[in-house]
Amino acid sequence: MNTETGKTALITGASSGIGQELAKLFAQDGYNLVLVARSDDTLNRLADVFRSNYGTQQITVIGKDLSQENSAQEVYDEVKRQGITVNYLVNDAGLSTYGKFATETDWEKETELIHLNVVTFTHLTKLFLKDMVARNEGRVLNLSSLVAVVPFPLQTVYAATKAYIYSFTLSMNNELKDTNVTMTALMPNATDTDFFNKAGAADTVITDSLQDPVMVARDGYKAFLKGESKVIPGGAKNKMYEIMGYVAPPEMTGAMMRYNNERKDSEAVKKQQKTIAWTIGVAAGVVVSVAALLAAYNNTNAIDRARYRYKAKSAGRSAKNALASVTDSLNGTYHDVKSKVEEALA
Ligand SMILES: NC(=O)c1ccc[n+]([C@@H]2O[C@H](COP(=O)([O-])OP(=O)(O)OC[C@H]3O[C@@H](n4cnc5c(N)ncnc54)[C@H](OP(=O)(O)O)[C@@H]3O)[C@@H](O)[C@H]2O)c1
Repeated sequence: MNTETGKTALITGASSGIGQELAKLFAQDGYNLVLVARSDDTLNRLADVFRSNYGTQQITVIGKDLSQENSAQEVYDEVKRQGITVNYLVNDAGLSTYGKFATETDWEKETELIHLNVVTFTHLTKLFLKDMVARNEGRVLNLSSLVAVVPFPLQTVYAATKAYIYSFTLSMNNELKDTNVTMTALMPNATDTDFFNKAGAADTVITDSLQDPVMVARDGYKAFLKGESKVIPGGAKNKMYEIMGYVAPPEMTGAMMRYNNERKDSEAVKKQQKTIAWTIGVAAGVVVSVAALLAAYNNTNAIDRARYRYKAKSAGRSAKNALASVTDSLNGTYHDVKSKVEEALA
């Protein structure tokens, strides 16, 4: 336990998922809380749990739709009215939409998304950061995402807002470097919360490999307390995704993320699965044949083995030639399959 009682953390999006897990960590460490989201019933229930489980002294619940004009100012004014000093600000509240931007997604929903993920995020940060800089103390944690560094087709607007948050945080790290105020970007991979369900993307390929929100919150919280500029929870595998985002061609990461974000029962996914099954089948066939040949060779007598070795040598020469033409033809098949997959995903 890292108790610093007397300090207050304001957490947006504390009613569910990663935000709720973060709120729990602050409560366990003895901080006072300001919990913000639309579901004030859920926040009040959570406040009761924190009071009885962790003895949290001061919890303020603010039920607010942060996608509305002026909502950041209203939250700030309410906090000031209650005489609360916010030492830690956690910008967690966020949402996404699902579908092709040009033809499928709804503009009203996207406006709500941009307002919540970008406008309110920026305004709330500006309001509280000014006070933190004046006091020369404070920390801010911003929920970005791994999709800030790779294309995320079918959640295009969402990914762009997370890239905004990431870029904002990196620039602010420089602006704040001569102060005792820090800002951290938390960049999780896909996480097991209600997020995909709310976005209408609960049946996408990516939802088969979701990570634990408790782990995400814990890694984010640790990095936040250390004042690190960014954190990618989940160890080396997710760090590799980040590196891929910087070095791999965006066409490649875009195609990979498009596949991950397709619905599981879509034609594109079925075609891709057939290609994978076909490749595995061929590879398994080759392994079984080689194993059978080796077993037969081991069961023969010394004279036959010498004869086979001689035959194998001359067969090896023709195999070398055959291999060259097989390689050429596999190369052709690869490009053929690749363009078919790209066509299916287009
Ligand atoms: N899950 C993932 O795969 C993933 C990955 C990377 C980053 N993230 C980011 O993590 C953050 C939290 O997401 P989550 O996965 O924990 O999803 P979640 O369980 O759906 O939580 C979203 C939170 O945001 C709040 N919220 C949504 N719209 C709001 C509004 N208009 N006004 C006020 N609060 C609002 C929700 O509260 P109410 O509904 O009560 O208002 C809820 O507390 C988001 O910023 C998301 O972009 C998630």
